[in-house]
Amino acid sequence: MKKRAIPFSSPRLGRKEFRAVHRVLKSGWLTTGGENRLFEEEFAGHTGAAHALSVNSATSALHLILEALEVGVNDWVITTPYTFTASSEVLRYLGAHPLFVDIDETGNIDPREIEKVLKENEKSSQPKSIKAILPVHLAGLACDMNRIMEISRQYSLPVVEDCAHAFPVQYPLESEGKEKYLGTIGAGGAFSFYANKTITTGEGGMVTVNREDLKKRISLMRLHGIDRDVWNRYSSSAGHLSWQYDIKAPGFKYNLTNFQAAIGRIQLKKAVSMKKDRTEQALRYNEAFKGIPGLETPPVGDDHAWHIYMLRLNLNELSLGRDEFIKELYDRGINCSVHYRPLHMMSYYRDTYSFQNKDYPRSRELYERTLSLPLYSGLKKRDQSRVIKAVIETAERFGSKT
Ligand SMILES: Cc1ncc(COP(=O)(O)O)c(C=O)c1O
Repeated sequence: MKKRAIPFSSPRLGRKEFRAVHRVLKSGWLTTGGENRLFEEEFAGHTGAAHALSVNSATSALHLILEALEVGVNDWVITTPYTFTASSEVLRYLGAHPLFVDIDETGNIDPREIEKVLKENEKSSQPKSIKAILPVHLAGLACDMNRIMEISRQYSLPVVEDCAHAFPVQYPLESEGKEKYLGTIGAGGAFSFYANKTITTGEGGMVTVNREDLKKRISLMRLHGIDRDVWNRYSSSAGHLSWQYDIKAPGFKYNLTNFQAAIGRIQLKKAVSMKKDRTEQALRYNEAFKGIPGLETPPVGDDHAWHIYMLRLNLNELSLGRDEFIKELYDRGINCSVHYRPLHMMSYYRDTYSFQNKDYPRSRELYERTLSLPLYSGLKKRDQSRVIKAVIETAERFGSKT
C-alpha cells in the first residue's frame, strides 16, 4: 500500500481561530476594524516596535516602507538575489532597481559584499543613487545586523528588514547592548502572514517602524491616501460627518480585514510555542543528519524562526543531483521544496539587468544543492521520522559518485 503523503507545509489552526472568525463575521464588520487595532497593539507589544501597522501582505509592507523612505525612480537598493521575488519586485513598483550582492555561507546577504559595492560606488565616475539596504532574514536566521547597521550608519542608508520568514526572532544588537526583535532594528520591518508562514492569516502582513514620520506616511498610503483610516471613517464616533474625508496622496489598497486580524491575534498568542515545535524538529533533523556523507545541515544561529529547513547536499559525495534527490523523496510520499532559485537566474531579472547564471556564484552554488524538508508546528514525530529515514537512505543509496 502506498504511504500517505507528508505535506511540505501546513498551517496550525485550532478552534480558537474558527471561533474568532465566526465572532467577527457575526459582528457584521468585515473590513479593517477593531481587531486590526488590537492585533497591531499586540504585535507592537510582542516585538517592542514603536508602531505596528497591519497590511494585506509582506509585499505591500515592503512597498509601503520603501515608499515612505522616498525610494523612487532610478534609485538603487542593495539586496540579495537569494530570496523570493517580492523582496525585489517592490523596488520595480517604485521605478527603482535592486543592486544585488552575493550571500555568505549562512545564505544571508554578505556584509562584506555590501561594503564592497558601496566603496566601488563612491569611487565611480557615475555613482548610482543608492537609497537603502534591504536584508532578508532567510529561513528565519538573522542576517549579520551588527555589521549591517554599522554600514548603514557609515553611509547614512536606512535598512529595511524583510522579516517574511523571521517572526519571532531576537537578535543581540551590540550598539544598544540588548536583544531586539528582528524587524525593529532597521528603519522598518516587513512581516508575512501568508498561509505557510510562522503565523498566518491566510494572506496578510505587518509593518513595524519606530519613526513617527514613517508611521504617518504608511498609515496614509496603505488605504488610498485617505486622511482617516477606514475604522475612523465609519465608526459611530465620527457621527453624521463619517462620510467626510480628504485624499492626501494616490495611495494603495493594502489594508487587512477584521476577520484576518482576529485570526492573527490568536496565531500571535501561539507564535512562541509553534516556534518551539519547529526548533525541536530542526534540531532533530540536524542531529539525525550529522556526519552523514552527502548531507550538510543548515546553520543554527543564536535564535532562529525555523520557517524553513534548508538541507544542503554535498553533491561531490553523491551520484545524484538535487532534483533527483527530491524525486526520490517524492516517490516515498515526502513533499519538499526549493528555496530559492536566485533572482538573477529568473528571466525577468536576467533580461532586465543582463545577468548571467554565473553571476553571484555563492547564491547559485547554494541553490543547486539545497532542498527544503517538511517543517511545521503540527508535523507529527512519526512523520518526521519517515522523512529522516528517507533522506538518510537516499543519501546512503546514492552515496558514491562512482
Ligand atoms: C523572503 C520573502 N519576502 C517577502 C515575501 C512576500 O510575502 P507575502 O506573500 O506576504 O507578500 C515572501 C513570501 O513568501 C518571502 O519569502
